[in-house]
Amino acid sequence: MSAAHDALRAANARHMFHPMVDPKVARANPPLIIERGQGVHVWDIDGKRYLDTVAALWNVNVGHDRPELKRAVAEQLDKLAYYSTFQNTSNPPAIELSARLARMFAPEKMTQVLFSSGGSDAVEGALKLARQYWQLEGRAGRTKFISLKLGYHGVHFGGASVNGNPAFRAAYEPLLPGCFQIESPYLYRNPWGESDPAHLAQRCADELDRAIQYQGADTVAAFIAEPVQGAGGVIVPHESYWPLVRAVCDKHGVLLISDEIVTGFGRIGAMCGARAWGVAPDIMAMAKGINSGIVPLGATLINERVADAYYRPEAQAAVMHGYTYSGHALACATANANLEIVEGENLAGRSLEVGAYLAERLEEFRRYPQVGDVRGKGLMAAIELVVDRATKEPLVAPAPFVPALIATARREGAIVRIQGNRLILSPPLVFSRADVDETARILHAAFDAAGRASL
Ligand SMILES: Cc1ncc(COP(=O)(O)O)c(C=O)c1O
Repeated sequence: MSAAHDALRAANARHMFHPMVDPKVARANPPLIIERGQGVHVWDIDGKRYLDTVAALWNVNVGHDRPELKRAVAEQLDKLAYYSTFQNTSNPPAIELSARLARMFAPEKMTQVLFSSGGSDAVEGALKLARQYWQLEGRAGRTKFISLKLGYHGVHFGGASVNGNPAFRAAYEPLLPGCFQIESPYLYRNPWGESDPAHLAQRCADELDRAIQYQGADTVAAFIAEPVQGAGGVIVPHESYWPLVRAVCDKHGVLLISDEIVTGFGRIGAMCGARAWGVAPDIMAMAKGINSGIVPLGATLINERVADAYYRPEAQAAVMHGYTYSGHALACATANANLEIVEGENLAGRSLEVGAYLAERLEEFRRYPQVGDVRGKGLMAAIELVVDRATKEPLVAPAPFVPALIATARREGAIVRIQGNRLILSPPLVFSRADVDETARILHAAFDAAGRASL
């Protein structure tokens, strides 16, 4: 550790606000400063190498330092870094990407793309386009949104309003009126004590049905959910859940918005999460894996049904939403190169295959008394930590187990993420079986050490 590195840490403590943490806590805990990445590894400023078991933030799906993406950046920078897409101007990479996404999601009948700068933006676009759709349909009373408890839809006021975790809402209320959360298909913890996943799916779909009826179907614009709830703890529904939800939405004419920001582009074994469940949503919010985090980018996709309302000749349908960086040329060029890799290397297929092996190895962790549940789909997995298996009381920091687990994993050479009482794994989709083995080795060492630390 050099004086320069200490100065960097001190400057971080002095000047940076980090997301989702009390600044005093962040100030007291010098960050791990990442300086370099390659493939499934990153290095800190002291030169120590770590296995990146979280693909940074579920997003560096093709791995770090891909030459194809660097080439795309350089080539695009030589032509044009940025020009606006307002005022009837456009640029080739954005046009190419919109056509590519429409092609990629033709099975879902997605036809139009509204670009933005990230996931929260994409959700905001989804909510606004949904409301505007109903105005264009002459049903302006359809304004409400229903979403899931533990759902995460980003941090803008719209996304925070449909967010199902009070921790993200409390400091910023009052939020948008007309947003309601219902139970999520969370097998390990649900208010009914239901342990049959298919029955739970039915109960949750029935609750959606009742919620729509209770609000009045002609007041509900859309239901929004993640195909697998990510930040909420990798909550994997039964395979019948999304088809049931689609049927309930159809019964009441309610739009179905799929938040694909984590599940898009292969993470759970299909090009989008809804497709993995055999369902076509009306609107999709995408970001993260769209270009593996190289340049911030989000996209809201709408299907024919929604788009048609905007193209009706008599409709006053100006999209009064968009950002300076909507259709950013550099971001879109990197997305085009990134999606070539995702398709060319069949990363959705790989996610299924390596994800199955990851699931097999994670089962071993049930032997630790602190493990209440293990679950996942594709390369998205969680180990849920509990104080006691019988009571299912969540095991969270500052209990010594949690910091000891993180510290040992780092010492052994892996970055792991613990959110609340869930250890979340979302590695790059280029992860190999050997990388899974290395993850398991490090996690076993971490669970053993953390178990000793909490004696
Ligand atoms: C499902 C989901 N939606 C929305 C977002 C917000 O995306 P961003 O952080 O890019 O604004 C995230 C971020 O993790 C997410 O997981």
